[in-house]
Amino acid sequence: MPQTPSLPGTTDRRLAALLTLLSENATIVISGARIAREIGVSRSTVWRWVEQLRELGVRVKGQRHTGYFLERVSDILTPDLLRKRLKGNLFGKRVFHFFKTDSTNRVAMELGYAGEPEGTVVMAEEQTAGRGRSGRSWHSERGTGLYFTVLLRPRLAPAQAPLLTMLAGISAHAAIEAQTGLVPELKWPNDLMLNGKKIGGILTEMHAEPSAIRFVIIGVGINVNQEKFPAELAPIATSLRRESGKTNYRLELLVRLLTQFESDYNRFLREGAAFVVDRFQEVSTFARGRRVRVDTGSESFVGITAGLNPEGLLLVTRDDGSPVTVIAGDVTEVR
Ligand code: BTN
Repeated sequence: MPQTPSLPGTTDRRLAALLTLLSENATIVISGARIAREIGVSRSTVWRWVEQLRELGVRVKGQRHTGYFLERVSDILTPDLLRKRLKGNLFGKRVFHFFKTDSTNRVAMELGYAGEPEGTVVMAEEQTAGRGRSGRSWHSERGTGLYFTVLLRPRLAPAQAPLLTMLAGISAHAAIEAQTGLVPELKWPNDLMLNGKKIGGILTEMHAEPSAIRFVIIGVGINVNQEKFPAELAPIATSLRRESGKTNYRLELLVRLLTQFESDYNRFLREGAAFVVDRFQEVSTFARGRRVRVDTGSESFVGITAGLNPEGLLLVTRDDGSPVTVIAGDVTEVR
């Protein structure tokens, strides 16, 4: 199995192996001696790591002399399990896992500069400084949402990078629908919404030269199992759990999403922008015929969405009839 090199703060490979062993045998007691043998450490190290996992919020039951087990099927995104499930997939090769980091986008950016290859995935159980669009932050409660970033090195012009954001939105949309039966709204350029509230967002950042992308990182945040949100977010954010009443296995959703994304990404590279633009318009009822307010930072106006242009930019017809092409901005529905 390909090994991912360690990076300060990433989950120790053997600690991850312990977690995988417990997850694969959830609710079954495994003796400390067996664990020690299988992951190649001493029994007292096993005990120390179990303590560490408990501190991180993993529900490991049992004791030193009886053995250990996970109280219920754990929903930790163990890198080994992800690699196993994504065998042969572009995103199953290099996986960096953090229990806690500031921002997976920040880490992925650093890895990009350090020469990490296309397909590298950085994921975290919790982010202390999750980044959102327009300098906003992304609320990243421990163990409830999906917070991950993928690194790509496509041969594209920098102006095409926003298409990758839209592509990730399309893949996330499909994965959420396949897993939960819920059909999110895709709001240009990068918002996933359910019942008018946000369940997911995508933040793409890149390092480029004037005519070519060196690397691009695509950070995805999805509210999966959150039961509630801080007061200031409660009116605008929701989770799959809140909308469906069901808890979702985050690893499963991540596997679906990355599998879908690999196939959509390859199609985009083969077929070009038209694939993204057409697919986006198929799944986004927002892209056409909605009355919206557009905030570009320098101006704000109201109009009706009129589809996307061939480059994926949003077309809006202002109230006075004049057409506008929106390059970047916040778009909100006006009712
Ligand atoms: C938005 O504002 O809609 C974009 C939110 C993107 C959040 C994700 S969470 C994982 C990745 N790491 C970050 O710091 N941000 C993105």
